[in-house]
Amino acid sequence: MSIQSRKDDHLRICADEDVDRGEVDAGFRRFRFDHDALPEIDFDGIDTSVEFLGRRLRAPLLIGAMTGGTDKAREINHRLARAAARVGVGLELGSMRVMLKNTETTSSFTVKESAPDLPLLIGNIGAIQLVYGVGLHDLEQLVSHVGLDAMNFHLNPLQEVVQPEGDTRWHGVLPALREVIGRLSVPAIIKEVGAGIGLVTAQKLRGLPLAALNVAGVGGTSWSYVEGLRGAERAKRLGSLYRSWGVPTAEALLECGRANLGIPLVASGGLRSGLDMAKALRLGATVCTLARPFLIAAMESEEAVVSALEALIDELKVAMFCTGAPNLTELRRRRMLRLSAAPTEVLE
Ligand SMILES: Cc1cc2nc3c(=O)[nH]c(=O)nc-3n(C[C@H](O)[C@H](O)[C@H](O)COP(=O)(O)O)c2cc1C
Repeated sequence: MSIQSRKDDHLRICADEDVDRGEVDAGFRRFRFDHDALPEIDFDGIDTSVEFLGRRLRAPLLIGAMTGGTDKAREINHRLARAAARVGVGLELGSMRVMLKNTETTSSFTVKESAPDLPLLIGNIGAIQLVYGVGLHDLEQLVSHVGLDAMNFHLNPLQEVVQPEGDTRWHGVLPALREVIGRLSVPAIIKEVGAGIGLVTAQKLRGLPLAALNVAGVGGTSWSYVEGLRGAERAKRLGSLYRSWGVPTAEALLECGRANLGIPLVASGGLRSGLDMAKALRLGATVCTLARPFLIAAMESEEAVVSALEALIDELKVAMFCTGAPNLTELRRRRMLRLSAAPTEVLE
């Protein structure tokens, strides 16, 4: 199957089916802020802006990595970019491997043509591709042709092993990342795709010259389940069995914080409201990304994406108002309680 028809399958399945996690949620419901009935600030004066990778964003929000490479993907990416630019937030592109194989797909990624004011544009490539032949020269081509401000390297072993045509030779990925990231001309970020980055993986990343780490945890779109819906018997069986496998996003933020890598954390995976965003920021994230909710909005219109972005920012501001936090630095100092008494126990 070609990469392009796979991309269109992904868009169709993620837009039409319920592909969020099964029984496991992102974990934000187990936390609550201490409500402050005397906030002593004005709602209209609340400042949600943040600096990330040297860029100023109106809110700590990026549209998550999704697509590229087909006509439908071009329409969606350009729509997402125009909406993100209008609101003043960032955009992550989906995997750009297809552009290295077929340069005719370039226009599905060159979204700055539609949105010259986009404050931050992040590219995307599977880290496994570094083992399968993609090199520094290829990455620099993507950076310069599309005008990328940074590059996401995604880690997706679960998705690849469930996918019928998946790349499963994962020996050597870490050294390949070390080799490439140190010489890349733009900042590099590592992300999962929804199974999460916990303490074990975070510690392996120590010493890599990363600009940020995106925990991309369990709680939202399940890629094993999506691949199961596309595949035959084996993929279906594994996709269902492993639908909720991984590190829930709230836990992943705490675990990556404990790893103390000294780089900004990005929260993603199952964030579905500005309140989830507020909690993710309090748990250590610098910015948040949501993916599938924006695909659904973009299928409708650019206006629907703008409305979804504005709603998230408004919801975030309510959490800031009711904790008396005039800005994000203050929000991160506000009192938050963990509701579940028993933390996950690590087996010896
Ligand atoms: C349609 C779709 C396509 C995606 N494609 C990519 C991709 O190419 N590269 C990547 O790193 N993540 C990809 N993702 C994963 C998201 O970036 C994100 O990590 C994951 O969906 C969890 O976020 P969510 O629960 O808000 O959707 C994709 C997600 C969706 C919904």
